[in-house]
Amino acid sequence: MIATAAPTTHAALLDWVQEITHLCQPASVHWCDGSQSEYDRLCATLVEQGTFRKLHEEKHPGCFLALSDPSDVARVEERTFICSKRRQDAGRTNNWQDPSQMKATLRALFAGCMAGRTMYVIPFSMGPLGSPKSIIGVEITDSAYVVVNMRIMARIGTPVLGQLGTDGAFVPCLHSVGRPLAPGAVDVSWPCNPDKYIVHFPEERSIWSFGSGYGGNALLGKKCLALRIASVMARDEGWMAEHMLILGLENPKGEKLYLTGAFPSSCGKTNLSMIIPPAGYEGWKATVVGDDIAWMWPDAEGRLRAINPESGYFGVAPGTSVQSNPNAMAALSKNTIFTNVACTDNGCVWWEGMTEIPPPNLTDWHGQPWTPGQGTAAAHPNSRFTAPAHQCPSIDPHWDDPAGVPISAIIFGGRRPTTMPLVYQAFNWVHGVYMGATMGSETTAAAAGTVGRVRRDPMAMLPFCGYNMGHYFRHWIEMRRLISHLPRIFHVNWFRKSPEGKFLWPGFGQNMRVLEWVFKRCAGSIAGHEKQIGWVPHFEEFNITGMDTFTRADFDAAMAFNPDEWREEIISQGELYLNLYDHIPKELIFQRELLAGRL
Ligand code: OXD
Ligand code: MN
Repeated sequence: MIATAAPTTHAALLDWVQEITHLCQPASVHWCDGSQSEYDRLCATLVEQGTFRKLHEEKHPGCFLALSDPSDVARVEERTFICSKRRQDAGRTNNWQDPSQMKATLRALFAGCMAGRTMYVIPFSMGPLGSPKSIIGVEITDSAYVVVNMRIMARIGTPVLGQLGTDGAFVPCLHSVGRPLAPGAVDVSWPCNPDKYIVHFPEERSIWSFGSGYGGNALLGKKCLALRIASVMARDEGWMAEHMLILGLENPKGEKLYLTGAFPSSCGKTNLSMIIPPAGYEGWKATVVGDDIAWMWPDAEGRLRAINPESGYFGVAPGTSVQSNPNAMAALSKNTIFTNVACTDNGCVWWEGMTEIPPPNLTDWHGQPWTPGQGTAAAHPNSRFTAPAHQCPSIDPHWDDPAGVPISAIIFGGRRPTTMPLVYQAFNWVHGVYMGATMGSETTAAAAGTVGRVRRDPMAMLPFCGYNMGHYFRHWIEMRRLISHLPRIFHVNWFRKSPEGKFLWPGFGQNMRVLEWVFKRCAGSIAGHEKQIGWVPHFEEFNITGMDTFTRADFDAAMAFNPDEWREEIISQGELYLNLYDHIPKELIFQRELLAGRL
């Protein structure tokens, strides 16, 4: 076996790497230094092996395209496990197996699984290097694709080992695509295994992932560490690891505040994090700190502060365009890895929604010739771009600040064609926790016969909470005692429809109008209007200047309070409450009762 000399004397790390080498039997071991030259070398190797295609050098400088195996295209929630010692610590919303049984299963799967491959050791920091809030992980993987993506999504390599020193704590993250190479065998362009396991050991704070090379299954710093393991650490240590964007807003007077926002998947979270103020908002600035994950803690003054643990965007490509999100388009214009998008003959990328008219001839995400009108999607609906955060034109000057940014507001939202108004504000923290706990999106899966049902996704953490969801609500409520300047909590809904099925709000850049109201509520500069469900804007204090066709009647429709819909809402929350009944905090039971009373 060939091994580069270990660039550390950290005994526990060396022991672990040796143990895994012994278990997985790779052909060679490579310690990643995180340098540009290492990245370039690995990308060149991926091109040679057929995993990467180099894209058009002028149109997409420094960019590559990977097409995955059609069976390995997304996170696999049904194969994701939280293996706490006690089943009830994982809770009903997580898959659970006894940790020692699971370890035995995994050891058998990992035995010899890296034969014929290089084993990469990637030291990484989630959070700015040197921030007291950062967490160091070490990912061992047999995928060069994972290494180059991790270099965009996290700080990796030699500086992280420096930070770790000789005895620093790290989260061991073991990953394999699960496809050993027999001597002389030819590799496939996207190795993976039909048998997949994404496993978290919360007490031990370790991650084992087998069989998938895609996204959150394989880039273990993201969902596995920064949400599932970090949420457990946060509960134990009095902070919060949340599935939230972080956005800065500055008004023309130069007053600035930051907010975070939690939205279930496919609600335009990346778009909101990179919002551009529309015409009429001259002098306003919106800046992005993060598009997916926020770690928040109370500082010495009792304010909630936040960092984005990531350093890149792993964004969904379809729907992203110069119209919907010009900042994302600029961020992904160079040094970006695309996965499962379509491509022209001369190496330009395309996906549904990027332009109204598709190019006449494409290679689709299966690598097959594709022409418009053939009835299939050219890009996979979950195709992605991996782009460096600092390339976003609206990146916030403090995005990389080890001290984080102070948070004034928290926004929850979902895709709700009915019931939920454009915006309302919680009466207080516990009411806000109730709003977050009951948030969700209406299902659209007509085939499943579930249209019109609300899929509850508390704080957008359903697939990402590393412990019992009831205990997670308790933790949210208890954070109130640790924060003296509590952020205001809001709920927004960009997706309400008229009875005829037309969206009642234009969305995208116009969402700035809602953010302005949130800003002013936090600044205490407007009165608001107390209603049964919370604080709502008076029409007079909601800025529609410059919205040509949007009238007071449209505002009233987007904000309408319909008692029958709310009755339905309260009844349907019962399903969530029943699911979590043995652990749901009393405060949330009372909040539901109070709401029923106010209705
Ligand atoms: C993501 C998700 O990929 O939330 O960020 O699913
Ligand atoms: Mn996400």
